[in-house]
Amino acid sequence: MTVTDRQRGDAPSGLHIDAVSKVYGRGRGALLALDDVSLSVRPGEFVCLLGASGCGKSTLLSLVAGLDAVTRGSVDTGGGRVSLMFQEPALFPWLTVAGNVEIALRMRGVDRAERRRRATDLLETVRLDGFGAKRPHELSGGMRQRVALARSLAQESDLLLMDEPFGALDAMTRDILHDEVERIWRERDLTVLFVTHNVREAVRLGDRVILLSSRPGRVIEDYPVHLDRPRRIDAPEVAELAGKITERLRAEVSRHAR
Ligand SMILES: Nc1ncnc2c1ncn2[C@@H]1O[C@H](COP(=O)(O)OP(=O)(O)OP(=O)(O)O)[C@@H](O)[C@H]1O
Ligand SMILES: [Mg+2]
Repeated sequence: MTVTDRQRGDAPSGLHIDAVSKVYGRGRGALLALDDVSLSVRPGEFVCLLGASGCGKSTLLSLVAGLDAVTRGSVDTGGGRVSLMFQEPALFPWLTVAGNVEIALRMRGVDRAERRRRATDLLETVRLDGFGAKRPHELSGGMRQRVALARSLAQESDLLLMDEPFGALDAMTRDILHDEVERIWRERDLTVLFVTHNVREAVRLGDRVILLSSRPGRVIEDYPVHLDRPRRIDAPEVAELAGKITERLRAEVSRHAR
């Protein structure tokens, strides 16, 4: 197997975020990070979330992942498994590459022999076969991101949340990982919510691109991306839509700069 030995019960239901607000702190120091955010992601859909720094993107992902509680509203993942891939790979330096993947399986109670087998398969899926015995410090940044991706996949989630996973990579490595993520998304029939600062990256990957406003974060635009896949990040049609979205984003950022 490389990718599809997971068993599903009921059909996955995607993600429904309904009128969610998030307030950090209390009293005069309270901060409204998200205000009345509603967003649905269909099963199998790839949705990219764009917005200025500090607008609440990571907050929204942590609410969906259940790491933090909403102040108002509701988040419904239909009982499906959710995994979150952070901006930094956050690998355990004392574990091998395979060990870092296996730990996700161990936490799900998978026995040792099966963990070995699945970790090997997952490393193959992210094109890191042969690297299982290395430690994270022996890998490049792009390879570490792949390990983090393999670990997220090990959770066999229905919904994969990715928080600027490729922000720190060079353009070439990022292009390769876009291809990988798109391939895995298709093969595994995943639902993906992908946060990025990079408008072209959002158009390259997304079925839809959602734009959040700043302070507080609200959904202000929802752009469908009707471009054939696979797309090239430097394709003229990607650039054209990215240009339009960038203009809207600029207007939103300058509204706050005034
Ligand atoms: N745990 C927290 N406690 C208090 N305030 C927080 C907490 N986490 C985030 N915030 C605040 O909420 C707002 C949104 O933060 P968040 O990290 O969600 O932004 P972001 O859109 O992910 O930004 P970036 O693009 O820079 O990663 C910010 O003003 C931030 O200071
Ligand atoms: Mg963030």
